Amino acid sequence: MKLRYFEFKNHSDDRGSLVAVESNKDIPFNIKRVYYLFDTDASCSRGFHAHKTLQQVLICVSGECDICLDDGHERETVRLSNPSCGLYVGNNIWREMSNFSKDAVLLVLASELYDESDYIRNYDEFLRYVGVDK
Ligand code: TYD
Repeated sequence: MKLRYFEFKNHSDDRGSLVAVESNKDIPFNIKRVYYLFDTDASCSRGFHAHKTLQQVLICVSGECDICLDDGHERETVRLSNPSCGLYVGNNIWREMSNFSKDAVLLVLASELYDESDYIRNYDEFLRYVGVDK
């Protein structure tokens, strides 16, 4: 599956680096919610769900972690480690996050407020939802 990345401008100078992300400009949706994962145990995997409508951009602003994305047909795993790079996760994509480094902070920009009814937490149900026969 083709992964979509956004390369954000890094305003870097001798004081350090600064990255800004603006709604509908640097990413293709209005940011309604921001959350971040940190202190994740290296042996822990998270996610294991898809969203019916939610779009997200994942930015590993510190450390590193693996993101596995699956559209029901293909599955791809990438290691995120660049704070200037966002990985787009559209709707109907199953995601799993794992192998978090100790210092990992995974920032998530989301197009909607938290809504449990938008989640598909069962993989077989996800395959049915996207019309893939097992
Ligand atoms: P959970 O969905 O289990 O995290 P993940 O699937 O990404 O590993 O979320 C953990 C808890 O946090 C769960 O009780 C729901 C809550 N939560 C919110 O209250 N708001 C949010 O925006 C998110 C993403 C989770």
